[in-house]
Amino acid sequence: MQALTRRSFICGSAAVAALTAMPAVAATGVKTLKNGNTVIDLVANKTLSNVGGLLELSIKKYGKVAVVRTSKSVKGFSVINLACPHAGVLVSKSSDGWSCNPPGHGSVFALNGALKVGPATSALRSIKFTATSKALTIN
Ligand code: FES
Repeated sequence: MQALTRRSFICGSAAVAALTAMPAVAATGVKTLKNGNTVIDLVANKTLSNVGGLLELSIKKYGKVAVVRTSKSVKGFSVINLACPHAGVLVSKSSDGWSCNPPGHGSVFALNGALKVGPATSALRSIKFTATSKALTIN
């Protein structure tokens, strides 16, 4: 059996990462209201019609956030801040949730932001929202 070289390990890791990474979906139909609330047009963002669909966007009030469809109900979403609660590093999408990669310290979160593996001691921060069948408003 051939020894694994550093080069082949890096190339192999990159190939695996490319296969498991989900492409970021650009949000459309996003408006910021005078009161600072952000309204996302759910009709224009079809990715949120399927459970597991998500949008990542940056908003002035919270920075980088994700909107995740968690169920088919009208209010079946999670809106989470993507700054890790451990030391504030932005988490990245993984095959089944979020991970806090270097310079972060390896915490792992479920797609809805629930903590799976520390050193973080809490979930990704939930952000309040309201939803109708046509729009989701981040408060
Ligand atoms: S900043 Fe995320 S685990 Fe430390």
